[in-house]
Amino acid sequence: ASILMVAGEGLPFIKTGGLADVIGSLPPELVKKGHEVRVVMPLYQKIAQNYHQDFYFEKEYSVSINYHEVPVRLYSIIKNNVVFYFIEHQGYFERDSLYGYDDDGERFAYFQKAVLEMLNQLNYWPQIIHCHDWHTGMIPCLCKEAHGYDERYRNIRHVYTIHNLAYQGNFGVEMLDSCLGLGYHLFDNGNVRYDGGISFMKSGILYADKVTTVSPSYSQEILTPQYGEHLEMVLNMRKYDLWGITNGIDIESWNPMSDPEIPYHFNKVNAQAQKKENKLALQKELGLQEDPNVLLVGVVSRLTWQKGFYLLMEKLNELCAAPIQLAVLGSGEPLIEEKMAQLEAGNKGKIVFYRGYNESLSHRIYAASDLFLMPSLFEPCGISQLISMRYGTLPLVRETGGLRDTVQPFNEYEKTGNGFSFANYSSDELINTLYFAIDVYYNRKEDWTTLIRHAMNTDVSWEKSAGTYGLLYDELLKY
Ligand code: ADP
Ligand code: GLC
Repeated sequence: ASILMVAGEGLPFIKTGGLADVIGSLPPELVKKGHEVRVVMPLYQKIAQNYHQDFYFEKEYSVSINYHEVPVRLYSIIKNNVVFYFIEHQGYFERDSLYGYDDDGERFAYFQKAVLEMLNQLNYWPQIIHCHDWHTGMIPCLCKEAHGYDERYRNIRHVYTIHNLAYQGNFGVEMLDSCLGLGYHLFDNGNVRYDGGISFMKSGILYADKVTTVSPSYSQEILTPQYGEHLEMVLNMRKYDLWGITNGIDIESWNPMSDPEIPYHFNKVNAQAQKKENKLALQKELGLQEDPNVLLVGVVSRLTWQKGFYLLMEKLNELCAAPIQLAVLGSGEPLIEEKMAQLEAGNKGKIVFYRGYNESLSHRIYAASDLFLMPSLFEPCGISQLISMRYGTLPLVRETGGLRDTVQPFNEYEKTGNGFSFANYSSDELINTLYFAIDVYYNRKEDWTTLIRHAMNTDVSWEKSAGTYGLLYDELLKY
């Protein structure tokens, strides 16, 4: 099929989370399977700085926002056999962060309108537009409601993938007219209405031909009030068109045998010895006590409530008393950052907190750690636990969403599993599971070796899931 992916971020250009991993790695895999795939995203400041000299200038045109014609400059570049388009507007996108501004609604309304006008400008008509997260949620609606009279738009099928239901893109109703150019009847009839305003996320769910999310478990969880983020009724309306397709990772750029960011390469055979060398190097780099035999726990994460760090904070004494080292890389909510900084200050040499985003360091933490901690409250899929397993680092996770689908807990009788997990959002369960893992690490070395082998044998590639997306696209093109 010919597919246009629309997203707010994507590797290798820009990344704030797992969405960028997916946008960077799924399209090339689909191309390998014979699809024609292009991607479009906003031209953020960082991308402009790093790639401008390599861009091909495509077109200049305009779209209407707040009753004014606002200019669009369109660029492109080819990476991994995929054409990437970039929508340039310095005022909207050349800022320090990608999201989180008061005018996000206007910025992404502009982006989505610019994407749809791009099709006309380039006379490029994909069979399918595959939208990702709230930033793109209005596209199916805009195609059907604003461009519905034009069969070139009307013929396009839409897939809407929910990467995280917690971020919905909810805005004031006035935007319907001023920015999106849609009528208020779409508020009145409920199609885009949410809590007195409008919701990009809801609109995407209702107007797309197929809705997907990034793991089978999360696709079921979001039908319940516990995980539905107030959209469970809407999702239940679409449940027969809702697919859960587990993410993969790019196993070439995440490869312990060739990763240029790690000092000691390894494979399934020499993993344990080489991971110790990586551990020593990381301990030196981060100022941890140098000891190749201590159990090193790694965290690479956005520090938000979603990731379950509040559980850890209930058990700081137990954590500090445990015979482990902890290396945390991340940034996010001030409260969690502050706690982490305090923890580090009180446990020099044992706990280290690197505040910020650091791609290169993340590779060394994945490679050097023995355990990777991810006790999420909810997790649509999770990329970090997949990377961990690829690097022989056993994930310790809560059994939710994609974590539940990808991590099999160690069963000491059957000698099965590729990590550790606990069911309930409870700090007791977390700490018990951690102490269980500690016991296996120090006292049952053979079992630990088996677990590393299982983790590294886990298929975390896109191979299977890209095939499933292919089936989904086929199904859409049947009628
Ligand atoms: P989410 O998208 O919810 O943040 P995922 O597990 O799907 O969670 O993806 C997170 C991705 O971002 C992983 O590739 C992880 O390595 C990366 N990442 C998260 N925080 C950092 C950080 N502080 N520095 C470098 N990489 C990070
Ligand atoms: C979101 C989710 C994460 C998922 C990622 C990529 O950021 O929080 O679980 O892995 O999207 O799909």
